[in-house]
Amino acid sequence: MGRAERVVLAYSGGVDTSVCIPYLKNEWGVKDVITLAADLGQGDELEPIRQKALDAGAKESLVIDAIEAFIQEYAFPAIQANALYENRYPLTTSLARPLIAKLLVAAAEKYGADAVAHGCTGKGNDQVRFDVSIAALNPDLKVLTPAREWGMSREETIAYGERFGIPSPVKKSSPYSIDRNLLGRSIEAGPLEDPWNEPLEEVYAMTKAIADTPDQPEYVEIGFTAGLPTHLNGMELAAVKLLSQLNAIAGSHGVGRIDMIENRLVGIKSREIYEAPAMLMLIQAHRDLESFTLTADVTHYKRGIEETYSQLVYNGLWYSPLKIALDAFIQQTQAQVNGTVRIKLFKGTATIVGRKSETSLYTDDLATYGANDTFDHKAAEGFIYVWGLPTRIWAEKMRQG
Ligand code: ARG
Repeated sequence: MGRAERVVLAYSGGVDTSVCIPYLKNEWGVKDVITLAADLGQGDELEPIRQKALDAGAKESLVIDAIEAFIQEYAFPAIQANALYENRYPLTTSLARPLIAKLLVAAAEKYGADAVAHGCTGKGNDQVRFDVSIAALNPDLKVLTPAREWGMSREETIAYGERFGIPSPVKKSSPYSIDRNLLGRSIEAGPLEDPWNEPLEEVYAMTKAIADTPDQPEYVEIGFTAGLPTHLNGMELAAVKLLSQLNAIAGSHGVGRIDMIENRLVGIKSREIYEAPAMLMLIQAHRDLESFTLTADVTHYKRGIEETYSQLVYNGLWYSPLKIALDAFIQQTQAQVNGTVRIKLFKGTATIVGRKSETSLYTDDLATYGANDTFDHKAAEGFIYVWGLPTRIWAEKMRQG
């Protein structure tokens, strides 16, 4: 009896997930391996990937177009949450994992599988995101993780695959480990492992080098409705289109690069390079519009929620009770977040230069220093007396010593 009869394996077409197919069958006695490749806008051709899984011995090779769901159900809530892990990383890889987990679970249920599998190693965050999300969605399913257990080096993995007709990577494979989807690219390993090494230009694919960006600034206007981006330069656009157009525009000005040391959940610090032009701009613009349309206390309180939310998503708790409760809070705040933010792109910078909104709480005749000022200046005196009273009392006591 093997570890499972029938398994749905998350499949990318790479060597590791390809080797998982014969490994599951031959080493772990799995009868049927069904692979599942999800299109999240990573730009790979999926038909060759589908065929590759069959060639490696998959019984069935599923390809699912999930881009729309990825943007609507994962990226958009993250924008409303202004979600930035450690204040910088817009979670572009992290957000994809709970969606892939959901697709795996749905396929396992549909095809009567008793387990799902993924090719993550034991050092990263992704294994946590998959395992916990799968457990949350169907606690009865087993999760098989060959690459976490097989202990083969890269060379051994390739050699194992060759025995089962899995072609070794043609060109000398890149020293980098890259994850990509419509939201961005995550690049690590190789020369980047030395935190002092400046990333070579070759790591970037969505953003231009500053030397190659236009010498004229470009303005973009992003329109939001209830906290979600709906317009680009005055044109109403579907979510996926909006994201990809904004990626192209911002990337052409070299906007969207991040170079950071981040803290993984498993305790390891890692050096990560990200490209996420549209996500960074959308979060920046959305946050600006919140300052314009939400009351001060909601804005301030929400900052704490956002920090917790970002950690939950990074740490694999997308489908968890606290995350669901925070979603409810965030949703409740978004109805008034409408309007347009104007951003100037130039030489790697994206600077907000204007905003307008029908639902703004900004009040000209209170804010103005001009003649039409309606603020009651005398009222300030009594307010400050009461506001500062505890501090005044404390200072007097301290003096008496
Ligand atoms: N550190 C990022 C995260 O945990 C990205 C990891 C992506 N994987 C890669 N092969 N670069 O979300």
